[in-house]
Amino acid sequence: MAMSVRSPFVVVMGHVDVGKTLLLDKIRGTSVAYREPGMITQHIGMSLVPWPAVERFAGPLVDRLKLRGRIWVPGFLFIDTPGHAAFSNLRKRGGSVADLAVLVVDITSGLEDQGAESLKLIQSRGVPFVIAANKLDRIYGWRSVENRPFLFAVEEQEWHAVATLEERIGKLIDELSRFGIEADRYDRVRDFSRQVPIVPTSAVTGEGIADLLVVLAGVSQRFIPRERLQVADGPARGVVMEVKEEKGLGVVADAIIYDGRIRKGDVVVTAGLDGPREARVRMLVMPKPLEEMRDPEDRYMAVEEVRAAAGVRIVADGLEGVVAGAPIYAVWDPQAIPHVQKQIKEE
Ligand code: GTP
Ligand code: MG
Repeated sequence: MAMSVRSPFVVVMGHVDVGKTLLLDKIRGTSVAYREPGMITQHIGMSLVPWPAVERFAGPLVDRLKLRGRIWVPGFLFIDTPGHAAFSNLRKRGGSVADLAVLVVDITSGLEDQGAESLKLIQSRGVPFVIAANKLDRIYGWRSVENRPFLFAVEEQEWHAVATLEERIGKLIDELSRFGIEADRYDRVRDFSRQVPIVPTSAVTGEGIADLLVVLAGVSQRFIPRERLQVADGPARGVVMEVKEEKGLGVVADAIIYDGRIRKGDVVVTAGLDGPREARVRMLVMPKPLEEMRDPEDRYMAVEEVRAAAGVRIVADGLEGVVAGAPIYAVWDPQAIPHVQKQIKEE
């Protein structure tokens, strides 16, 4: 069976109001600013950031770190989490759908309660992660230039702004050490297998976002086993993130597809609280590319097929009672349905 490498799923976690959503908005907005229409696509509950788009706007940093031509991950699929429920829904047999995590902290306030909770969750799942120390623009005396890589920005600051930044980073490093984590500013990390990189960012000015994406690429390639990112061309495997009633569509399931592909008309096997469920896919729905969006009501389009890695809305009769976190598998051979149902029961 033909295999290809998919984009890693990157789950974004942290305390409330640290800037998780704005950071993702900024990553998407940056691609628009760099005139890459359609390069960064919105999925259901996720954003796909292809590596070529990153190289375009992070070019000077990619060159400085001598990474050009060395990145083989096709991009990243970012999953924003409003709370912890979403992370529990990312479970699959033998681990998590999340390949990587970004723990976002507010650099002016440190780890905070839910930041610490997120950290414990990440540790318990054994997911490789990086820390975005966000709100860099709020460091007293910091001079911002839109979208500038942190590595270049820090060289252009007055000493007192750098001193304040270092003091904040030092405090964060201390806090992290109480969780048994050794961390350092990413450009000072000597051994990525021991130390967690801290990337200062600003979701308002876009500073450090290039660095964050570049560090994620490096960490992906070093620490996600390559087999994990290999996808087959067979029937889709995914996880249900959310089940809801949609006007005009009925009950729909928003799912993450981490392997294979799903087609309109496929049978899917998934699970409710009381056991397996079977449904035939009536429609697959994705957000429209920005440039084709006329008005907010006209945000979605139907597609024939979706390949991993992706987020998709599945419209099918029989999804009532399906629970978030349930596995969802496409089945192409009707005779395989009992076998897949058994697999799902065991998850
Ligand atoms: P929840 O989803 O509620 O957990 O919050 P969040 O982490 O997604 O935070 P969000 O992106 O909604 O940002 C929260 C607030 O912080 C907003 O008012 C943002 O404008 C502000 N904010 C986010 N990032 C930055 C930043 O880098 N600098 C500054 N100055 N403000 C920021
Ligand atoms: Mg948010």
